[in-house]
Amino acid sequence: MQVGLRPSGPCFFLITPLPVNFSLMVFRIAFFFTTLLLAASSLFLSCEPDEPLTGVPAATDDPDSPTVTAVQATFNGAIDLADPFNYGSQTVPGYINRDNTDGNPITDLQATLGRVLFYDQALSANQTISCSSCHQQAAGFGDNALASVGVAGTTGRHSMRLINARFGDEPRFFWDERASTLEAQTTQPIQDHVEMGFSGNDGDPAFADLLARLNDTEYYQELFAAAFGTAQVTEVRIQQALAQFIRSIQSFDTRYDAGRAEVNNDNDPFPNFSAQENQGKQLFLGRPQFDRNGNRVGGGLGCGGCHQAPEFSIDPGSRNNGVVGTLAGGQDFTNTRSPSLREVFRPNGEANGPFMHNGQFTTLNEVLNHYNSIPGNVQNLDPRLQPGGNPQRLNLAGEERAAVLAFLRTLTGSAVYEDEKWRDPF
Ligand code: HEC
Ligand code: HEC
Repeated sequence: MQVGLRPSGPCFFLITPLPVNFSLMVFRIAFFFTTLLLAASSLFLSCEPDEPLTGVPAATDDPDSPTVTAVQATFNGAIDLADPFNYGSQTVPGYINRDNTDGNPITDLQATLGRVLFYDQALSANQTISCSSCHQQAAGFGDNALASVGVAGTTGRHSMRLINARFGDEPRFFWDERASTLEAQTTQPIQDHVEMGFSGNDGDPAFADLLARLNDTEYYQELFAAAFGTAQVTEVRIQQALAQFIRSIQSFDTRYDAGRAEVNNDNDPFPNFSAQENQGKQLFLGRPQFDRNGNRVGGGLGCGGCHQAPEFSIDPGSRNNGVVGTLAGGQDFTNTRSPSLREVFRPNGEANGPFMHNGQFTTLNEVLNHYNSIPGNVQNLDPRLQPGGNPQRLNLAGEERAAVLAFLRTLTGSAVYEDEKWRDPF
């Protein structure tokens, strides 16, 4: 049985399993001393306050004795199966229509299980990496590192923010859309040799070994039973729970949303925007007019054709945007998906970058430089970026640049960085 995944150092006596089947008296004495020792140890500051009390016995038959479940003992109140957070009926604005949920609607208890799985290092072969290692709440559930560190090296592409993953027409996931659904995506990092290491090849343990590990973990027995009715751990259940947790991460507390709620459509000026922000919005949404050489002579910048408002999710028809370098230095023309452009900035104004599948751009200004002057000879380049067959030249004026950046800043809220329901429960 594997309950104490995190060693508790000086509190070693607390993780020694207590004999649950002893007579009532012995149990009460043991419990009394455990309580005493806990009180004494906290007096001497030998324990971190959030240390899981994994040695406290699970449910007993005695109706008078306090029942401490493995979930309570492990998460110290951060997970409460009797009173889970609201994941399943969060408010979604009426103007949001795009949704890829498709048959796996969010329930509070399944998403709660997903939260634990997302933050649990036990999902990697050597128990050092969790999904949250590369998808950090403080970074909009992305990673500021160019390449993310896994159990056996670093990733070949830059990590993706997991913001409003639910709200888009494109059902496929990853930069190159190789996962047919979010559910299918969620167990691929676990089975990746570099990322989490349950590949079953090259001496790696197999996915079945992970299922056995989780089946032997008492808090997962309780979490799966609460979520699915029985304690059985299966790949499908892991996928459903992780996908629900990810789909629950939503950003609708932005200044853009406050303005959008007051108008009939995106093209109306937003009453809460400055003139510059409204100008930036029109530039983002509007179609460009080009001359026969691909030079923009008027209109907007065409961003909204591929990053569709009000979700700012990728158009399923989008092809390559001309960013083709790889982290390894080669070329890759297969990347046609972008995360939502919500939360490209953090609340403090810093960029949640670097950006693109190869993390090529550190700032949004560099991103604009790219669209301002799309490179030639790119395979699979989206026709919208090569009007008349010539790579586009937006001829961005300085004041237009500032306006688009001001608009992109309105797509940031604070909830995704702060809300407890998306936080590390360990
Ligand atoms: C070692 C770092 C790492 C770990 C661990 C990791 N990811 Fe990722 N994640 C990435 C990278 C890099 C990408 C982009 C990879 C690509 O497109 O080829 C990505 C992409 C994704 C995407 C696609 C997002 C989109 O909009 O298409 C999802 C969803 C995701 N990860 C979820 C997870 C889940 C769930 C876990 C844990 C089971 C996890 N990740 C573990 C690095 C990581
Ligand atoms: C033809 C479709 C298309 C158009 C038009 C377009 N984009 Fe993109 N955008 C993409 C694709 C595809 C990606 C992901 C490319 C990659 O990483 O290889 C992307 C990526 C991005 C990213 C990086 C997202 C991240 O999380 O790293 C930003 C920012 C961005 N675009 C902003 C813009 C802006 C601003 C405009 C208008 C000036 C624009 N885009 C126009 C298709 C488009």
